[in-house]
Amino acid sequence: MTTETIRTSEAASESGEVRAPRKVFVKTYGCQMNVYDSQRMADVLAADGYSAADNAEDADLVLLNTCHIREKAAEKVYSELGRLRRMKEERAARGADLVIGVTGCVAQAEGEEIIRRQPAVDLVIGPQSYHRIANVVRGARGGTRQVETDFPAEDKFEHLPKPDARATRARGVTAFLTVQEGCDKFCTFCVVPYTRGAEVSRPVGQIVAEAERLAESGVREVTLLGQNVNAWHGEGPDGTAWGLGRLLFRLAEIPGIDRLRYTTSHPRDMDDTLIAAHRDLGALMPYLHLPVQAGSDAVLKAMNRKHTGDDYRRLVERIRAARPDIALSGDFIVGFPGETDADFEETLRIIRDVTYAQAFSFKYSPRPGTPGADRDDQVETAVKDERLQRLQALLNEQQEIFARSLVGREMDVLIEKRGRKAGQRVGRSPWLQPVICDENDGEIGDIVRVRINEAGPNSLFGTKV
Ligand code: 5AD
Ligand code: SF4
Repeated sequence: MTTETIRTSEAASESGEVRAPRKVFVKTYGCQMNVYDSQRMADVLAADGYSAADNAEDADLVLLNTCHIREKAAEKVYSELGRLRRMKEERAARGADLVIGVTGCVAQAEGEEIIRRQPAVDLVIGPQSYHRIANVVRGARGGTRQVETDFPAEDKFEHLPKPDARATRARGVTAFLTVQEGCDKFCTFCVVPYTRGAEVSRPVGQIVAEAERLAESGVREVTLLGQNVNAWHGEGPDGTAWGLGRLLFRLAEIPGIDRLRYTTSHPRDMDDTLIAAHRDLGALMPYLHLPVQAGSDAVLKAMNRKHTGDDYRRLVERIRAARPDIALSGDFIVGFPGETDADFEETLRIIRDVTYAQAFSFKYSPRPGTPGADRDDQVETAVKDERLQRLQALLNEQQEIFARSLVGREMDVLIEKRGRKAGQRVGRSPWLQPVICDENDGEIGDIVRVRINEAGPNSLFGTKV
């Protein structure tokens, strides 16, 4: 039975009228910050009587939490909206309703344009206004289309309800925690400074309190999130200025928090204290996502990265000196405007020099409003395709070599969930790889010593020692 046909008396509204229990489905696109935001929106709506649905069919409110980073990501949203429009029309024919909302970075970037392009959309709300989502949804249900894309003055995080302990428990033993949002770096390819706004750090007290609540609900591994997470800064309880390194030390003191990670970092914000944290803090996992984007100094300059290829190489050397077993992951863009064959070879060279355990690579996608999009020396699609293939072949090879180097080794694995096959458990290695082991090797939430027997393309297989 679908929810809109259920009528109970338990959900009486303020005016005394009886309404059905509402169900929300949030579909998340893009980065981990969107995953975090989706959960927080679900928490806000839970306080307003919405329970979570597993799919759009079972929901009467569907939110698409969108990504605008590349053109493909944004286009996917419009095709999904087309599908939801048909679902809405079918329901209307049965006298049932479906409220459709667009949140996230496409919402922020396109605002009202979304409703013009897809009139079935009832509400559009940008990332800085999620604490207001319950009101916006009520407004939309009242029959007025809602568009909320201002950057409000108040602190969103102050106004978001505390993560719900039961929901957190259901979400598992690892969690994301946003500590910083927005970006002031203005890389010339990137929309983030426009969609997420200026760099803002959450205060220490708020972050510690949220981490403590996560620990109480059984979370053992916390990943700190920010578009430029290592630019995080705040005032410590002692009144001194703290950077991310100090914050990590503080969070490691929380009983139950055994593992810490952070993402995504900009090479220019890796300071000495943070590097020292990699040396001294056992809870900080030996894995770092540190995008370089390209290898050629000319392209890095055109991208406004404000560092050279050699600056990055030296930085990686310092990090590896502090934590020899650290593995790196990165992001790469091929075909930025003006990129020559020789420039591209420099990207391959930096990858060979640094070596990555994991990487994400993309064809440059001109984003409206960014400086890169206006350049008249765009690289042809066929050239981008060819470069991406060569780049990915090299990165895949490195990923495989790294995974194979772990076979025969012992490591601590955090058991996270049941496997797809009966009798299996899936855990996570210090280097973020899924590790498949036997259910007798440990319960969910245990950190167990595992020997790796085999490396598959996307996961490791191991046994408790
Ligand atoms: N085109 C292609 N890739 C992009 N990224 C960001 N903007 C673009 C763009 N316009 C990539 C960068 C960034 C990652 C999140 O997405 O590599 O680090
Ligand atoms: Fe985008 Fe550059 Fe900011 Fe990262 S540092 S979010 S790539 S502008």
